Amino acid sequence: MQTESYLAKEAWDLLEASIVYFQGRPVGTVAARDPYSEALNYDQCFMRDFVSSALLFLIQGKPEIVRNFLIETLALQSSEKQMDCFNAGQGLMPASFKMESWEDKQYLVADFGEHAIGRVTPVDSCLWWLILLRAYVKATGDLALAQQPNFQHGIILILKLCLADRFDMYPTMLVPDGAFMIDRRMGVYGHPLEIQALFYAALRSARELLLPNRRGEVFIQIVNHRLMMLNHHIREYYWLDLKRLNNIYRYHGEEFGESAINKFNIYPDSIPDWLTEWMPEKGGYLAGNLGPAQMDFRFFSLGNLMSVICSLASNTESQAIMDLIEQRWHDLVGYMPLKICFPSVQDLEWKILTGCDPKNVPWSYHNGGNWPVLLWLFAAAAQKTGRPELGWRALEVAEKRLSEDEWPEYYDGRNGRLVGKASRKFQTWTISGYLLAREILQNPQHLALFSFGEDPEMQQWMSLAHELR
Ligand code: GLC
Repeated sequence: MQTESYLAKEAWDLLEASIVYFQGRPVGTVAARDPYSEALNYDQCFMRDFVSSALLFLIQGKPEIVRNFLIETLALQSSEKQMDCFNAGQGLMPASFKMESWEDKQYLVADFGEHAIGRVTPVDSCLWWLILLRAYVKATGDLALAQQPNFQHGIILILKLCLADRFDMYPTMLVPDGAFMIDRRMGVYGHPLEIQALFYAALRSARELLLPNRRGEVFIQIVNHRLMMLNHHIREYYWLDLKRLNNIYRYHGEEFGESAINKFNIYPDSIPDWLTEWMPEKGGYLAGNLGPAQMDFRFFSLGNLMSVICSLASNTESQAIMDLIEQRWHDLVGYMPLKICFPSVQDLEWKILTGCDPKNVPWSYHNGGNWPVLLWLFAAAAQKTGRPELGWRALEVAEKRLSEDEWPEYYDGRNGRLVGKASRKFQTWTISGYLLAREILQNPQHLALFSFGEDPEMQQWMSLAHELR
Protein backbone atom coordinates (compact mmCIF):
# COMPACT_ATOMS: atom_id res chain seq x y z
CA MET A 1 0.00 0.00 0.00
CA GLN A 2 1.32 3.43 -0.93
CA THR A 3 1.38 6.34 1.44
CA GLU A 4 -1.62 8.60 1.60
CA SER A 5 -0.01 11.60 -0.05
CA TYR A 6 1.46 9.51 -2.85
CA LEU A 7 -2.02 8.15 -3.49
CA ALA A 8 -3.58 11.59 -3.58
CA LYS A 9 -0.91 12.81 -5.99
CA GLU A 10 -1.50 9.85 -8.29
CA ALA A 11 -5.25 10.46 -8.14
CA TRP A 12 -4.87 14.16 -8.92
CA ASP A 13 -2.63 13.44 -11.92
CA LEU A 14 -5.15 10.93 -13.25
CA LEU A 15 -8.00 13.37 -12.76
CA GLU A 16 -6.14 16.12 -14.62
CA ALA A 17 -5.55 13.72 -17.49
CA SER A 18 -9.27 12.94 -17.75
CA ILE A 19 -10.30 16.54 -18.49
CA VAL A 20 -12.13 17.15 -21.77
CA TYR A 21 -11.30 20.37 -23.64
CA PHE A 22 -13.71 22.06 -26.02
CA GLN A 23 -12.45 24.95 -28.14
CA GLY A 24 -9.51 25.17 -25.79
CA ARG A 25 -11.59 25.38 -22.60
CA PRO A 26 -12.03 22.61 -20.00
CA VAL A 27 -15.69 21.45 -20.00
CA GLY A 28 -15.80 18.12 -18.16
CA THR A 29 -14.07 14.80 -17.56
CA VAL A 30 -14.31 11.51 -19.48
CA ALA A 31 -15.92 8.57 -17.66
CA ALA A 32 -12.85 6.32 -17.87
CA ARG A 33 -9.42 6.10 -19.47
CA ASP A 34 -9.02 2.36 -19.53
CA PRO A 35 -6.18 1.25 -21.81
CA TYR A 36 -7.31 -2.40 -21.68
CA SER A 37 -10.90 -2.32 -22.96
CA GLU A 38 -12.95 -0.87 -25.76
CA ALA A 39 -14.11 2.66 -24.92
CA LEU A 40 -17.79 2.29 -26.00
CA ASN A 41 -19.18 5.52 -24.50
CA TYR A 42 -16.76 5.70 -21.56
CA ASP A 43 -14.78 8.29 -23.51
CA GLN A 44 -17.72 10.68 -23.07
CA CYS A 45 -18.42 13.09 -20.23
CA PHE A 46 -21.37 11.75 -18.22
CA MET A 47 -23.30 14.31 -16.22
CA ARG A 48 -23.67 12.13 -13.13
CA ASP A 49 -20.04 11.03 -13.29
CA PHE A 50 -18.79 14.60 -13.49
CA VAL A 51 -20.47 15.68 -10.22
CA SER A 52 -17.73 14.40 -7.89
CA SER A 53 -15.00 15.91 -10.09
CA ALA A 54 -16.92 19.19 -10.26
CA LEU A 55 -17.31 19.45 -6.49
CA LEU A 56 -13.63 18.74 -6.11
CA PHE A 57 -12.70 21.45 -8.62
CA LEU A 58 -14.92 23.90 -6.73
CA ILE A 59 -13.25 23.01 -3.44
CA GLN A 60 -9.85 23.44 -5.03
CA GLY A 61 -10.74 26.96 -6.23
CA LYS A 62 -10.91 25.92 -9.91
CA PRO A 63 -14.49 26.83 -10.79
CA GLU A 64 -13.95 27.59 -14.53
CA ILE A 65 -14.40 23.99 -15.63
CA VAL A 66 -17.67 23.77 -13.68
CA ARG A 67 -18.89 27.05 -15.11
CA ASN A 68 -18.06 25.90 -18.63
CA PHE A 69 -19.77 22.57 -18.00
CA LEU A 70 -22.94 24.28 -16.77
CA ILE A 71 -23.03 26.63 -19.76
CA GLU A 72 -22.38 23.93 -22.37
CA THR A 73 -24.84 21.42 -20.93
CA LEU A 74 -27.48 24.12 -20.71
CA ALA A 75 -26.99 24.74 -24.43
CA LEU A 76 -27.37 20.99 -25.06
CA GLN A 77 -30.64 20.94 -23.10
CA SER A 78 -32.36 22.71 -25.97
CA SER A 79 -30.64 20.81 -28.74
CA GLU A 80 -32.42 18.44 -31.12
CA LYS A 81 -33.55 15.33 -29.27
CA GLN A 82 -35.38 13.36 -31.88
CA MET A 83 -34.02 10.24 -33.46
CA ASP A 84 -35.39 6.92 -34.55
CA CYS A 85 -38.82 7.59 -32.97
CA PHE A 86 -37.11 8.49 -29.72
CA ASN A 87 -38.42 11.79 -28.43
CA ALA A 88 -37.13 13.31 -25.23
CA GLY A 89 -39.16 15.89 -23.34
CA GLN A 90 -38.16 19.55 -23.29
CA GLY A 91 -35.91 20.31 -20.36
CA LEU A 92 -34.27 16.88 -20.29
CA MET A 93 -30.50 17.02 -19.79
CA PRO A 94 -28.28 14.53 -21.61
CA ALA A 95 -26.77 11.45 -19.97
CA SER A 96 -23.46 12.29 -21.59
CA PHE A 97 -21.78 14.31 -24.32
CA LYS A 98 -18.67 14.08 -26.46
CA MET A 99 -16.62 16.40 -28.56
CA GLU A 100 -16.55 15.91 -32.32
CA SER A 101 -14.73 17.81 -35.05
CA TRP A 102 -15.85 18.50 -38.62
CA GLU A 103 -13.93 20.64 -41.02
CA ASP A 104 -11.71 22.06 -38.32
CA LYS A 105 -14.65 23.05 -36.14
CA GLN A 106 -15.45 21.44 -32.80
CA TYR A 107 -18.95 20.51 -31.65
CA LEU A 108 -20.42 18.97 -28.53
CA VAL A 109 -22.75 16.09 -29.31
CA ALA A 110 -25.21 14.98 -26.64
CA ASP A 111 -26.67 11.56 -25.88
CA PHE A 112 -30.09 11.79 -24.26
CA GLY A 113 -30.29 8.04 -24.01
CA GLU A 114 -31.06 7.52 -27.70
CA HIS A 115 -27.63 5.89 -28.16
CA ALA A 116 -27.24 4.38 -24.69
CA ILE A 117 -27.46 0.64 -24.15
CA GLY A 118 -31.15 -0.15 -23.61
CA ARG A 119 -32.14 3.41 -24.64
CA VAL A 120 -32.56 4.43 -21.00
CA THR A 121 -33.75 7.91 -20.01
CA PRO A 122 -31.29 9.86 -17.82
CA VAL A 123 -33.81 11.37 -15.40
CA ASP A 124 -31.08 12.10 -12.85
CA SER A 125 -29.03 14.37 -15.18
CA CYS A 126 -31.26 17.44 -14.86
CA LEU A 127 -31.50 16.91 -11.09
CA TRP A 128 -27.72 16.73 -10.67
CA TRP A 129 -27.41 19.80 -12.92
CA LEU A 130 -29.52 21.88 -10.51
CA ILE A 131 -27.60 20.57 -7.49
CA LEU A 132 -24.33 21.43 -9.20
CA LEU A 133 -25.47 24.89 -10.25
CA ARG A 134 -26.27 25.68 -6.63
CA ALA A 135 -22.90 24.31 -5.51
CA TYR A 136 -21.15 26.49 -8.10
CA VAL A 137 -23.02 29.59 -6.88
CA LYS A 138 -22.21 28.73 -3.26
CA ALA A 139 -18.54 28.21 -3.99
CA THR A 140 -18.01 31.30 -6.16
CA GLY A 141 -20.74 33.73 -5.13
CA ASP A 142 -21.42 34.08 -8.88
CA LEU A 143 -25.22 34.27 -8.55
CA ALA A 144 -25.24 36.38 -11.72
CA LEU A 145 -24.67 33.25 -13.82
CA ALA A 146 -27.74 31.49 -12.43
CA GLN A 147 -29.76 34.67 -12.84
CA GLN A 148 -29.06 35.05 -16.54
CA PRO A 149 -32.28 34.66 -18.54
CA ASN A 150 -31.08 31.48 -20.29
CA PHE A 151 -30.27 29.86 -16.93
CA GLN A 152 -33.61 30.88 -15.41
CA HIS A 153 -35.29 29.47 -18.51
CA GLY A 154 -33.32 26.22 -18.19
CA ILE A 155 -34.26 25.87 -14.53
CA ILE A 156 -37.93 26.39 -15.34
CA LEU A 157 -37.82 23.86 -18.18
CA ILE A 158 -36.48 21.26 -15.75
CA LEU A 159 -39.14 22.13 -13.18
CA LYS A 160 -41.88 21.91 -15.79
CA LEU A 161 -40.66 18.51 -16.88
CA CYS A 162 -40.40 17.21 -13.29
CA LEU A 163 -43.59 18.77 -11.96
CA ALA A 164 -45.88 18.15 -14.94
CA ASP A 165 -49.26 16.64 -14.13
CA ARG A 166 -49.34 12.98 -14.96
CA PHE A 167 -51.72 10.12 -14.26
CA ASP A 168 -49.71 9.24 -11.19
CA MET A 169 -50.95 10.87 -7.97
CA TYR A 170 -48.04 10.44 -5.58
CA PRO A 171 -45.75 13.37 -4.76
CA THR A 172 -42.80 11.14 -5.67
CA MET A 173 -41.60 11.11 -9.28
CA LEU A 174 -42.61 8.22 -11.53
CA VAL A 175 -39.76 7.04 -13.75
CA PRO A 176 -38.90 4.16 -16.09
CA ASP A 177 -36.34 1.46 -15.24
CA GLY A 178 -32.67 2.45 -15.34
CA ALA A 179 -33.28 6.20 -15.05
CA PHE A 180 -30.23 6.95 -12.87
CA MET A 181 -26.87 5.51 -11.84
CA ILE A 182 -28.42 2.06 -12.24
CA ASP A 183 -28.96 2.55 -15.94
CA ARG A 184 -30.05 -0.98 -16.81
CA ARG A 185 -33.12 -3.01 -16.08
CA MET A 186 -32.98 -3.84 -12.39
CA GLY A 187 -36.58 -3.59 -11.18
CA VAL A 188 -36.06 0.07 -10.28
CA TYR A 189 -38.93 1.62 -12.24
CA GLY A 190 -41.78 3.34 -10.45
CA HIS A 191 -40.76 5.53 -7.53
CA PRO A 192 -37.15 4.60 -6.75
CA LEU A 193 -35.62 6.24 -3.70
CA GLU A 194 -32.53 7.53 -5.51
CA ILE A 195 -34.61 9.64 -7.88
CA GLN A 196 -36.77 10.92 -5.01
CA ALA A 197 -33.73 12.03 -2.98
CA LEU A 198 -32.17 13.75 -6.00
CA PHE A 199 -35.54 15.29 -6.85
CA TYR A 200 -35.81 16.68 -3.33
CA ALA A 201 -32.28 18.14 -3.42
CA ALA A 202 -32.88 19.53 -6.91
CA LEU A 203 -36.14 21.24 -5.88
CA ARG A 204 -34.41 22.78 -2.89
CA SER A 205 -31.61 23.98 -5.16
CA ALA A 206 -34.06 25.45 -7.67
CA ARG A 207 -35.89 27.32 -4.92
CA GLU A 208 -32.64 29.07 -3.99
CA LEU A 209 -31.77 29.87 -7.58
CA LEU A 210 -35.06 31.15 -8.99
CA LEU A 211 -35.34 34.90 -9.34
CA PRO A 212 -38.34 36.11 -7.32
CA ASN A 213 -39.99 37.78 -10.31
CA ARG A 214 -43.61 36.96 -11.21
CA ARG A 215 -42.81 33.70 -12.95
CA GLY A 216 -40.21 32.75 -10.38
CA GLU A 217 -42.61 33.36 -7.48
CA VAL A 218 -45.23 31.06 -9.01
CA PHE A 219 -42.67 28.29 -9.33
CA ILE A 220 -41.34 28.90 -5.81
CA GLN A 221 -44.86 28.34 -4.46
CA ILE A 222 -45.31 25.15 -6.47
CA VAL A 223 -41.89 23.90 -5.41
CA ASN A 224 -42.61 24.64 -1.75
CA HIS A 225 -45.78 22.67 -1.84
CA ARG A 226 -44.18 19.70 -3.58
CA LEU A 227 -41.23 19.68 -1.17
CA MET A 228 -43.58 19.38 1.80
CA MET A 229 -45.61 16.59 0.24
CA LEU A 230 -42.54 14.69 -0.87
CA ASN A 231 -40.89 15.00 2.53
CA HIS A 232 -44.00 13.80 4.31
CA HIS A 233 -44.56 10.90 1.90
CA ILE A 234 -41.01 9.56 2.11
CA ARG A 235 -40.72 9.84 5.89
CA GLU A 236 -44.11 8.36 6.46
CA TYR A 237 -44.16 5.49 3.97
CA TYR A 238 -40.58 4.60 2.96
CA TRP A 239 -39.11 4.30 6.45
CA LEU A 240 -38.20 0.82 7.64
CA ASP A 241 -36.92 -0.31 11.01
CA LEU A 242 -37.71 -3.20 13.31
CA LYS A 243 -40.80 -1.51 14.66
CA ARG A 244 -42.13 -0.74 11.19
CA LEU A 245 -41.29 -4.22 10.02
CA ASN A 246 -43.37 -5.61 12.87
CA ASN A 247 -46.24 -3.39 11.82
CA ILE A 248 -46.02 -4.50 8.21
CA TYR A 249 -45.81 -8.13 9.32
CA ARG A 250 -49.19 -7.78 10.99
CA TYR A 251 -50.76 -5.62 8.28
CA HIS A 252 -54.26 -6.42 7.08
CA GLY A 253 -54.73 -6.32 3.34
CA GLU A 254 -57.62 -5.00 1.27
CA GLU A 255 -58.31 -1.92 3.39
CA PHE A 256 -60.52 0.64 1.69
CA GLY A 257 -60.96 4.33 2.27
CA GLU A 258 -59.41 7.05 4.36
CA SER A 259 -58.93 5.11 7.55
CA ALA A 260 -56.74 2.46 5.88
CA ILE A 261 -53.49 1.88 7.74
CA ASN A 262 -51.92 -0.22 5.03
CA LYS A 263 -52.48 2.44 2.39
CA PHE A 264 -50.46 0.79 -0.38
CA ASN A 265 -51.85 -2.67 0.29
CA ILE A 266 -48.48 -4.23 1.07
CA TYR A 267 -48.92 -7.94 1.78
CA PRO A 268 -46.91 -9.26 4.74
CA ASP A 269 -45.87 -12.28 2.68
CA SER A 270 -43.85 -9.95 0.46
CA ILE A 271 -41.39 -9.29 3.31
CA PRO A 272 -38.27 -11.13 2.11
CA ASP A 273 -36.78 -13.81 4.38
CA TRP A 274 -33.36 -12.18 4.59
CA LEU A 275 -34.77 -9.01 6.10
CA THR A 276 -36.11 -10.42 9.35
CA GLU A 277 -32.57 -11.44 10.31
CA TRP A 278 -30.78 -8.55 8.68
CA MET A 279 -32.69 -5.63 10.20
CA PRO A 280 -30.66 -4.57 13.25
CA GLU A 281 -32.22 -3.85 16.65
CA LYS A 282 -30.96 -0.31 16.37
CA GLY A 283 -31.04 1.40 13.00
CA GLY A 284 -33.17 1.56 9.91
CA TYR A 285 -33.30 2.79 6.33
CA LEU A 286 -35.54 4.06 3.58
CA ALA A 287 -37.02 1.41 1.30
CA GLY A 288 -35.90 1.26 -2.31
CA ASN A 289 -39.30 1.83 -3.89
CA LEU A 290 -42.99 2.04 -3.11
CA GLY A 291 -46.07 1.48 -5.22
CA PRO A 292 -49.40 -0.36 -5.14
CA ALA A 293 -48.79 -3.69 -3.34
CA GLN A 294 -45.10 -3.09 -3.91
CA MET A 295 -42.40 -2.29 -1.42
CA ASP A 296 -38.84 -2.85 -2.54
CA PHE A 297 -37.10 -3.87 0.68
CA ARG A 298 -33.60 -3.72 -0.82
CA PHE A 299 -31.18 -1.21 0.71
CA PHE A 300 -29.95 1.28 -1.92
CA SER A 301 -26.89 3.23 -0.82
CA LEU A 302 -27.05 6.33 -3.00
CA GLY A 303 -30.71 6.99 -2.21
CA ASN A 304 -30.22 6.57 1.51
CA LEU A 305 -27.01 8.61 1.68
CA MET A 306 -28.43 11.38 -0.47
CA SER A 307 -31.51 11.46 1.78
CA VAL A 308 -29.21 12.08 4.75
CA ILE A 309 -27.25 14.75 2.88
CA CYS A 310 -30.30 16.73 1.71
CA SER A 311 -32.35 16.18 4.91
CA LEU A 312 -35.06 14.24 3.17
CA ALA A 313 -34.49 11.86 6.07
CA SER A 314 -35.08 13.42 9.48
CA ASN A 315 -32.18 13.78 11.92
CA THR A 316 -33.27 10.70 13.83
CA GLU A 317 -33.63 8.69 10.62
CA SER A 318 -30.24 9.90 9.41
CA GLN A 319 -28.61 8.64 12.59
CA ALA A 320 -30.46 5.35 12.21
CA ILE A 321 -29.20 4.96 8.62
CA MET A 322 -25.62 5.43 9.85
CA ASP A 323 -26.30 2.95 12.67
CA LEU A 324 -27.47 0.41 10.14
CA ILE A 325 -24.37 0.85 7.97
CA GLU A 326 -22.15 0.55 11.03
CA GLN A 327 -23.86 -2.62 12.15
CA ARG A 328 -23.99 -4.19 8.71
CA TRP A 329 -20.48 -3.02 7.81
CA HIS A 330 -19.33 -6.31 6.34
CA ASP A 331 -22.34 -6.46 4.00
CA LEU A 332 -22.38 -2.82 2.97
CA VAL A 333 -18.74 -1.73 3.13
CA GLY A 334 -16.86 -5.03 3.11
CA TYR A 335 -13.57 -4.85 1.24
CA MET A 336 -14.57 -1.82 -0.81
CA PRO A 337 -17.04 0.90 0.11
CA LEU A 338 -19.89 0.82 -0.83
CA LYS A 339 -22.40 -1.78 -1.91
CA ILE A 340 -24.71 -0.21 -4.51
CA CYS A 341 -27.68 -2.20 -3.20
CA PHE A 342 -28.21 -5.05 -0.79
CA PRO A 343 -28.89 -7.89 -1.29
CA SER A 344 -28.55 -8.99 -4.90
CA VAL A 345 -31.46 -10.53 -6.76
CA GLN A 346 -30.97 -14.16 -7.72
CA ASP A 347 -32.39 -17.04 -9.76
CA LEU A 348 -35.90 -16.51 -11.08
CA GLU A 349 -36.07 -13.01 -9.64
CA TRP A 350 -32.84 -12.14 -11.48
CA LYS A 351 -34.30 -13.55 -14.69
CA ILE A 352 -37.50 -11.57 -14.35
CA LEU A 353 -36.12 -8.30 -13.02
CA THR A 354 -33.00 -7.96 -15.18
CA GLY A 355 -34.20 -9.81 -18.27
CA CYS A 356 -31.33 -12.34 -17.73
CA ASP A 357 -28.67 -9.60 -17.89
CA PRO A 358 -25.25 -11.35 -17.77
CA LYS A 359 -23.57 -8.16 -16.53
CA ASN A 360 -25.96 -7.93 -13.59
CA VAL A 361 -25.61 -11.46 -12.25
CA PRO A 362 -25.89 -11.73 -8.43
CA TRP A 363 -23.28 -9.70 -6.50
CA SER A 364 -21.96 -8.02 -9.62
CA TYR A 365 -22.18 -4.51 -11.14
CA HIS A 366 -25.59 -2.94 -10.34
CA ASN A 367 -26.88 -6.13 -8.75
CA GLY A 368 -25.07 -5.90 -5.44
CA GLY A 369 -21.63 -4.83 -6.65
CA ASN A 370 -19.43 -2.46 -4.60
CA TRP A 371 -18.84 0.98 -6.13
CA PRO A 372 -15.96 3.15 -4.84
CA VAL A 373 -17.65 6.32 -6.17
CA LEU A 374 -20.17 5.99 -3.32
CA LEU A 375 -17.38 6.69 -0.84
CA TRP A 376 -17.77 10.46 -1.12
CA LEU A 377 -21.49 10.29 -0.37
CA PHE A 378 -20.77 8.09 2.62
CA ALA A 379 -18.07 10.49 3.85
CA ALA A 380 -20.54 13.37 3.47
CA ALA A 381 -23.32 11.56 5.33
CA ALA A 382 -20.86 10.55 8.08
CA GLN A 383 -19.66 14.12 8.42
CA LYS A 384 -23.21 15.52 8.40
CA THR A 385 -24.39 13.17 11.14
CA GLY A 386 -21.37 13.97 13.30
CA ARG A 387 -19.82 10.55 12.78
CA PRO A 388 -16.74 11.29 10.67
CA GLU A 389 -14.90 8.32 12.18
CA LEU A 390 -17.12 6.03 10.10
CA GLY A 391 -16.10 7.94 6.98
CA TRP A 392 -12.39 7.66 7.85
CA ARG A 393 -12.79 3.96 8.48
CA ALA A 394 -14.30 3.45 5.02
CA LEU A 395 -11.64 5.63 3.40
CA GLU A 396 -8.91 3.50 4.93
CA VAL A 397 -10.55 0.37 3.55
CA ALA A 398 -10.64 1.92 0.06
CA GLU A 399 -7.03 3.12 0.25
CA LYS A 400 -5.77 -0.41 0.62
CA ARG A 401 -6.93 -1.37 -2.85
CA LEU A 402 -7.78 1.46 -5.20
CA SER A 403 -4.39 2.33 -6.64
CA GLU A 404 -3.12 -1.24 -6.72
CA ASP A 405 -6.26 -2.32 -8.59
CA GLU A 406 -5.92 0.66 -10.96
CA TRP A 407 -9.01 2.58 -9.79
CA PRO A 408 -11.76 0.17 -10.90
CA GLU A 409 -15.29 1.19 -11.66
CA TYR A 410 -16.78 -1.49 -9.39
CA TYR A 411 -16.06 -4.67 -7.44
CA ASP A 412 -17.86 -8.01 -7.38
CA GLY A 413 -18.67 -10.58 -4.72
CA ARG A 414 -20.70 -10.61 -1.55
CA ASN A 415 -18.24 -8.33 0.18
CA GLY A 416 -16.58 -6.63 -2.78
CA ARG A 417 -13.37 -8.68 -2.80
CA LEU A 418 -13.00 -9.11 -6.56
CA VAL A 419 -12.40 -6.41 -9.12
CA GLY A 420 -15.61 -6.31 -11.19
CA LYS A 421 -15.66 -8.80 -14.04
CA ALA A 422 -16.33 -6.20 -16.73
CA SER A 423 -15.13 -3.25 -14.67
CA ARG A 424 -13.30 -0.39 -16.36
CA LYS A 425 -9.95 0.58 -14.91
CA PHE A 426 -9.00 4.21 -14.30
CA GLN A 427 -12.63 5.17 -13.84
CA THR A 428 -12.78 8.92 -13.23
CA TRP A 429 -15.52 9.02 -10.61
CA THR A 430 -13.66 6.35 -8.59
CA ILE A 431 -10.65 8.67 -8.60
CA SER A 432 -12.51 11.91 -7.88
CA GLY A 433 -14.84 10.19 -5.40
CA TYR A 434 -11.83 9.12 -3.35
CA LEU A 435 -10.26 12.59 -3.43
CA LEU A 436 -13.56 14.26 -2.62
CA ALA A 437 -14.20 11.94 0.34
CA ARG A 438 -10.82 12.94 1.77
CA GLU A 439 -11.56 16.64 1.36
CA ILE A 440 -14.96 16.31 3.02
CA LEU A 441 -13.53 14.40 5.95
CA GLN A 442 -10.66 16.82 6.40
CA ASN A 443 -12.86 19.88 6.25
CA PRO A 444 -16.54 19.67 7.24
CA GLN A 445 -17.19 23.13 5.76
CA HIS A 446 -17.16 21.67 2.25
CA LEU A 447 -20.44 19.94 3.06
CA ALA A 448 -22.27 23.24 2.72
CA LEU A 449 -21.73 23.15 -1.04
CA PHE A 450 -24.15 20.33 -1.61
CA SER A 451 -25.96 19.54 1.65
CA PHE A 452 -29.18 20.91 3.14
CA GLY A 453 -30.44 21.25 6.70
CA GLU A 454 -34.03 20.54 7.73
CA ASP A 455 -36.31 22.60 5.47
CA PRO A 456 -37.47 25.70 7.40
CA GLU A 457 -40.72 25.77 5.39
CA MET A 458 -41.36 22.18 6.41
CA GLN A 459 -40.77 22.97 10.07
CA GLN A 460 -43.33 25.77 9.92
CA TRP A 461 -45.81 23.48 8.24
CA MET A 462 -45.25 20.73 10.82
CA SER A 463 -45.82 23.04 13.76
CA LEU A 464 -48.99 24.34 12.12
CA ALA A 465 -50.23 20.78 11.56
CA HIS A 466 -49.36 20.00 15.18
CA GLU A 467 -51.41 22.97 16.45
CA LEU A 468 -54.39 21.96 14.34
CA ARG A 469 -54.43 18.42 15.78
C1 GLC B 1 -22.37 2.84 -16.35
C2 GLC B 1 -23.04 3.21 -15.04
C3 GLC B 1 -23.49 4.64 -15.06
C4 GLC B 1 -22.33 5.55 -15.40
C5 GLC B 1 -21.66 5.13 -16.71
C6 GLC B 1 -20.39 5.89 -17.00
O1 GLC B 1 -23.30 2.87 -17.40
O2 GLC B 1 -24.12 2.37 -14.78
O3 GLC B 1 -24.04 4.98 -13.82
O4 GLC B 1 -22.75 6.87 -15.48
O5 GLC B 1 -21.34 3.75 -16.64
O6 GLC B 1 -19.46 5.70 -15.98
